[in-house]
Amino acid sequence: DSVHVFAPATVANVVCGFDVLGFAVNEPGDEVVMRRTEKPGITISKITGDNGRLPMDAAKNTVSVSVEHYLKSIGRLDVGVDIELHKKMPIGSGLGSSSASTVAGLYAIKTLLGDNSEPSKLLPFAMKGEELACGHGHADNVAPALFGGFVLIRSYEPLDVVRLPHPKDLWCAIVFPDVDVPTREARQIIRNKINMKDAVTQWGNIAGLVSGLFMQDIDLIGRSMQDVLVEPVRSMLIPDFYEMRKMAMDLGAVSFGISGSGPSVFAFTRDEQTARLITGKLKQHLNSIKIGANTYVSTI
Ligand code: HSE
Repeated sequence: DSVHVFAPATVANVVCGFDVLGFAVNEPGDEVVMRRTEKPGITISKITGDNGRLPMDAAKNTVSVSVEHYLKSIGRLDVGVDIELHKKMPIGSGLGSSSASTVAGLYAIKTLLGDNSEPSKLLPFAMKGEELACGHGHADNVAPALFGGFVLIRSYEPLDVVRLPHPKDLWCAIVFPDVDVPTREARQIIRNKINMKDAVTQWGNIAGLVSGLFMQDIDLIGRSMQDVLVEPVRSMLIPDFYEMRKMAMDLGAVSFGISGSGPSVFAFTRDEQTARLITGKLKQHLNSIKIGANTYVSTI
């Protein structure tokens, strides 16, 4: 009685849609192996790929905590499971690392118990995991990790999640500069009040991006992916952000921005070759300023 589940990395915000837009990539992602145990309760027997950074204590780990919330909600605290978590992506990277683990864990327990209800039922539990991981239960990583593709969080209260289409042949180049930007801190530096003028710019862009996704209009997607609210502040946490943006755009990117709360950045491209060119050049640039980088290229 065991299951093995993969859940993908995700790019939250998609530049202009702070806390309301996100999409999943093909790789990287995390894996959870879950087994039934005789004894009720949740244990974590193994975590790999985290350099010892994640708690093995089931009361503190986001995966086990969200699985416990789920078990409580269905009145099955009699169930015993053991969790192995295999991290296949960097932590604190802005790629929805905690979300991928949490979603994999929740999908594993649902499968193990033969619960055939809609996967969307898992969303509130995954959001609890986010709350534990960074102090805020946003859904723009967990929802795309759960559903795949592009997702809009139309509303948080009540929760209203809309899956969006996207053009075929849209590629994503991701670069993770090896510097630490904890989401908790990247949220604290954001302004609480915004100007009406900036709000108008921002909602025009969000509407433009969503329209572009429906219309398969990559130019419209590209020119809508501008953020006047969050990026001007958070870009300070990312080494050479504006230099990297210029390099990516000069190499033919459709758009460029921060992935989630950073430090990862991403570019949309129309083909794989451009995406690989961008990841290669940006990595080279980061290395030249003595910063390591991981890169990923994926379709959406
Ligand atoms: N929307 C969240 C934020 C995503 O930008 O803080 C965190 O990955």
